[in-house]
Amino acid sequence: MKKIALAAVILSSLSGGAWAHEAGEFFIRAGSATVRPTEGSDNVLGSLGGFNVDNNTQMGLTLTYMATDNVGVELLAATPFRHKVGTGPTGDIATVHQLPPSLMAQWYFGDSSSKVRPYIGAGVNYTTFFDESFNDTGKDAGLSDLSLKDSWGAAGQVGLDYLINRDWLINMSVWYMDIDTEVKFKAGGVQQNVNTRLDPWVFMFSAGYRF
Ligand code: NI
Repeated sequence: MKKIALAAVILSSLSGGAWAHEAGEFFIRAGSATVRPTEGSDNVLGSLGGFNVDNNTQMGLTLTYMATDNVGVELLAATPFRHKVGTGPTGDIATVHQLPPSLMAQWYFGDSSSKVRPYIGAGVNYTTFFDESFNDTGKDAGLSDLSLKDSWGAAGQVGLDYLINRDWLINMSVWYMDIDTEVKFKAGGVQQNVNTRLDPWVFMFSAGYRF
């Protein structure tokens, strides 16, 4: 009987131990975040078609608080993303920088004894644009005074945490962000406003640590 009791204790410590994502805990994840815009815009200057915006990868950081064993609140931050902007006929004409902080409410499947925690989230994104500038091609074409309007929009995500041990995890997550802006500039001194959507997918691969 003693052996059976001992085996039961060992088994319960193996299977019943809390791995991660318990109510009240915080964890951070850090890794690569790649923004892939699914861009489109009004016709630029009547004949150039829509804007093209290229992909960019930066360091992404998330901070998550578990309100319960299943409900998390997460803040996304990153180092500034840098995108080249152009049109089909002209090639790249400008560079813009942006930061897309997002606040998400999340549901984590499984429970605090699960080593694998898939999750879904929904929330709000704020994107601020800065250091917008035309390159030489843009300037030579008489373009100036570039600025992009900040954006508020909805964001959704799916992700997966794999708990390596009590402290460390690895993560994959995908976000969709509704980011729309107005691109303002002058062409030969004439003010132009071009409604533009970025609506990017964001892919994140990271390592996480809880404390
Ligand atoms: Ni949109």
